[in-house]
Amino acid sequence: MASMESLEDVLQEEVKDLYDAEKQLTKALPKLAKKATADALKDALESHLRETERHVARLEQVFEHLEMPVRGKKCTGMKNLLSEGADMIGDAEDDAARDAVMIAAAQKVEHYEIASYGSVRTWANVLGKTEVAELLGETLEEEKAADEKLTGIAESFVNEAAAESADEMPVRGRSAARMPRRHAAADRSRARGSRSR
Ligand SMILES: [Fe+2]
Ligand SMILES: [Fe+2]
Repeated sequence: MASMESLEDVLQEEVKDLYDAEKQLTKALPKLAKKATADALKDALESHLRETERHVARLEQVFEHLEMPVRGKKCTGMKNLLSEGADMIGDAEDDAARDAVMIAAAQKVEHYEIASYGSVRTWANVLGKTEVAELLGETLEEEKAADEKLTGIAESFVNEAAAESADEMPVRGRSAARMPRRHAAADRSRARGSRSR
């Protein structure tokens, strides 16, 4: 990591980190959208891809204002969030469950971005870099809106459908999910039988 001696250094490093994070997202979002089942989720991911492309362009303006070369540095936070999300999505065998974990993974990404943009905007303000702070603030608001939209989708139907479609999340490799579904069904009918007796 480059040495960070001042708030200006910290701002520059975080902007480089965000640039790489947004670039990673422009590659990940189309893959996610393809795997989404619910139309509302697919639409939200596709429209956030277009926003993410604007976030990349806005950061390029930030580089210009800060008189820095347009160059990112590997954002390991985003890399790990995306790889954890991909693992969970890959393990979900049911469409509704997959959509639910996809929303969770996307929201973790949004929260990461919200934290980072919030910090850099504050630092830019403290340093008196008003134009930079405004650019970062515009993206920050779009990240918050994307997060709220995902909450709305989750609340409206996806999580409900996931809960209805199976007793447990059909996720491989988790001890709670090991019981085959037909056994779970048999257990349910036994439970009903014992209640009616
Ligand atoms: Fe973004
Ligand atoms: Fe985002």
